[in-house]
Amino acid sequence: MDANRVSVFDTTLRDGEQSPGCSMNLEEKVRMARQLEALGVDVIEAGFPIASEDDFAAVREVARICRRPTIAALCRTTREDIERAWEALSDAAHPRIHTFVATSDIHLQYKLQKTREEVLDMAAGAVRLAKSFTDDVEFSAEDATRTDLDYLCRVVAAVIDEGATVINIPDTVGYTIPSEYAKIITTLKEKVPNIDRATLSVHCHNDLGLAVANSLTAVACGVRQVECTINGIGERAGNASLEEIVMALRVRRDLMPYETGIVTEELYRSSQMLSNITGVHVQPNKAVVGKNAFAHEAGIHQHGVLKNRITYEIMTPESVGVKTNSLVLGKHSGRHALNKKYEEMGYQLSRPELDKAYKLFTKLADQKKEIFEEDLLAILQDGFAQIPERYKLRAVQATAGTSTLATALVTLHDTGNDGAQTHTAAGDGPVAAVYEAIDRITGLNGNLIDYTVRSVTGGPDAVGEVFVHVEFDGTSYTGKAASTDIVDGSARAYLNAVNKALYARERKRAIKEEAASAG
Ligand code: KIV
Ligand code: ZN
Repeated sequence: MDANRVSVFDTTLRDGEQSPGCSMNLEEKVRMARQLEALGVDVIEAGFPIASEDDFAAVREVARICRRPTIAALCRTTREDIERAWEALSDAAHPRIHTFVATSDIHLQYKLQKTREEVLDMAAGAVRLAKSFTDDVEFSAEDATRTDLDYLCRVVAAVIDEGATVINIPDTVGYTIPSEYAKIITTLKEKVPNIDRATLSVHCHNDLGLAVANSLTAVACGVRQVECTINGIGERAGNASLEEIVMALRVRRDLMPYETGIVTEELYRSSQMLSNITGVHVQPNKAVVGKNAFAHEAGIHQHGVLKNRITYEIMTPESVGVKTNSLVLGKHSGRHALNKKYEEMGYQLSRPELDKAYKLFTKLADQKKEIFEEDLLAILQDGFAQIPERYKLRAVQATAGTSTLATALVTLHDTGNDGAQTHTAAGDGPVAAVYEAIDRITGLNGNLIDYTVRSVTGGPDAVGEVFVHVEFDGTSYTGKAASTDIVDGSARAYLNAVNKALYARERKRAIKEEAASAG
């Protein structure tokens, strides 16, 4: 590979998914993985297979579907972990086992209760075992930046001797600063005799807001793989943001002459898709993909940009896939135009998918005059979730006012018995009343943890997206829906979470039954 090519290792589906509020179901992970493939990432870390049945299934499915990138599965150093990771990867076109163990004295003493020699043996043994399954083995020295540097050099040399092809030096707790990280990387390059037999990688957390700066410093020191996530999601303050690293390398090629395989025009779409799936919004002033990243408010700035964009713009919105003129279709647009627009946006719909999208489109076009790209995306996000819909909303009506108790009347279609049920309820507000009525019909008792509404497009007839986090029996589920009517959207977002909870319950029961009949 070209010496200046930096490999992009995306861990949105693993480290990112581990962060609060960012959990995704199987269908959502697969959808995101397809987009990551279109984005051009080199490696997709699809999960931690031993952690749960769901993680295992996600790695297996992503490995089956995404054939171009390398698919990585995370595991600790035990035989059971490694074998499970390999099992999940068995159908991958390009599998990678990613094994890790902590190497800092803090972790050795308080978490692992092991000596340095024991951990060194665990690391070497894990790579040896992983290597018996596949050639592509990555080793991560967790908490590397707080690890004694001589010891880190010994561990790295030992795992390369066992055949590790990628060595990751994570800043697990987001503690290091660029000058210190540079010293760690250059010391490894100078002191580890076999270092040239492996690719060096970094994985930075953002606790001090330095994840991107640290990653770029490491690249300048010779690291050729960066681990990062879309929108910078991840444990605590998150991981290094993929879009920021990639665009920094592209915009400042004069000082950082490195290439990635990223199709930068897919960055905005990837960011939007993730935020639509998880319900975790991108902060407006977020670099590269935030709503305001290309907005020029101050008159003097607007004046400059109108004369010549380079006065205040260091990259164009188009270069990251932000369309400045996104008006697309209207009420009279036909199925053909809709299909063509989706193709332009990068979506190939099957005939039944197009039929479904068109139905939703005509319904929406009846409610609002102009349909924007964002509306079309909302149609896809909302209408194509693959979770079986046990309950469907037939009708909802809510009343509220300053001096009256809010009440709601909800009718649901139960696809389980093909019947309809109606309930009324009262609540602190119209949405609470609607949710209470839904609970009475489904028999579930949801605890609403988070509720957000945002307008997807401007104007009084804008489509609003409603996101909810609801807890059922101690497990939290996300739900979302898009609608021009806030009460309707709120009801359908809640039902989306209800259907996910029922589906998860059903899957658990099926897995138990399968295990019982097998054993
Ligand atoms: O932050 C970290 O150290 C990790 C490793 C498992 C790579 O996520
Ligand atoms: Zn991490």
